[in-house]
Amino acid sequence: MKVLGIESSCDETGVALYDTERGLLGHAVHTQVAMHEAYGGVVPELASRDHVRRLIPLLESVLAEAACTRCDIDAIAYPAGPGLAGALLVGASFAEALAMALGVPVLPVHHLEGHLLSPLLAEDAPSFPFIALLVSGGHTQLMRVARVGDYRLLGESLDDAAGEAFDKTAKLLGLGYPGGPALAKLAETGRPGRYKLPRPMLNSGDLSFSFSGLKTAVLTAARAQALSEADRADLAAEFQEAVTEVLAAKAVAACRQHQLSALVVAGGVGANRRLRQRLDEAMAKIGGRVFYPALELCTDNGAMIAFAGSQRLLQGEAPHRGGAFAVRPRWPLDQIS
Ligand code: KG4
Ligand code: ZN
Repeated sequence: MKVLGIESSCDETGVALYDTERGLLGHAVHTQVAMHEAYGGVVPELASRDHVRRLIPLLESVLAEAACTRCDIDAIAYPAGPGLAGALLVGASFAEALAMALGVPVLPVHHLEGHLLSPLLAEDAPSFPFIALLVSGGHTQLMRVARVGDYRLLGESLDDAAGEAFDKTAKLLGLGYPGGPALAKLAETGRPGRYKLPRPMLNSGDLSFSFSGLKTAVLTAARAQALSEADRADLAAEFQEAVTEVLAAKAVAACRQHQLSALVVAGGVGANRRLRQRLDEAMAKIGGRVFYPALELCTDNGAMIAFAGSQRLLQGEAPHRGGAFAVRPRWPLDQIS
């Protein structure tokens, strides 16, 4: 079965064709980063309009890469949420209309479920059950994943998501958008420990996170003196240490509590090298292992959506054959049925 995945929930347009027998046949992503850069963040209306422009060319290029035609598509999956309402609606309308035209089933899926299952696209995939650490621009959550569709929320951020904290702190340090990768790059040249930042909720005894105070602590440090390039690098390094230390400690605590040795990391912040290093070390200490999606599948993409859709179809979930549809910009992952 060949499932076409459409992704348009935020600022990346993604299309992919996944074959349940042969794996990923083709995938392409267009990122709108350059377009939103001038505004310092995603402009929702611009995002929607750009998705409209990109979807058909991306579909054509994926079909060419896969040496397939539209007639080879057996089903279509798209994220119904969470994300930007307008952006989601573009992908939903595109997927629903294409499915109707081709006479194939169409399946709305959860965007975070796509992220969460993306490490299963790798050859060396974890088996169920496992703990998942979802770290994106909008979410920081620890989940217990029993099987496809069975997700139990163990803890999450009470305020800013980890990616959001990276982005906001990067802005404070005068770095471009998106801030996460830029801050991580600057941190590589800095010395952690010179500035002292808190490790929020490290010893809270639960699996909750809080990152908004860190950004304020960076602001306070930045206001105390005029920062040189070296100071900014040192602050960035300490910030990265603080975030990754808390993320790693709680992810390992979740694995211990549930006596699970496999940890899956998904979402944009999962691309952070220091986080990967810390998680690998900490999990090795408890005899466990960390599974990551391929680097190119860490950020938003159509492959993870096609894969999530295919797994749900294989599980016997009934698709709908076009007609009325809706999107859910806010949609907690543990509320999917
Ligand atoms: O999952 P994602 O592509 O989009 C959603 O939020 O759904 O994640 C984007 C987030 C942004 O906040 C970005 O700054 C962050 O992931 N990010 C990083 C790195 N690469 C991306 N944060 C820290 N270090 C990185 N290397
Ligand atoms: Zn995402």
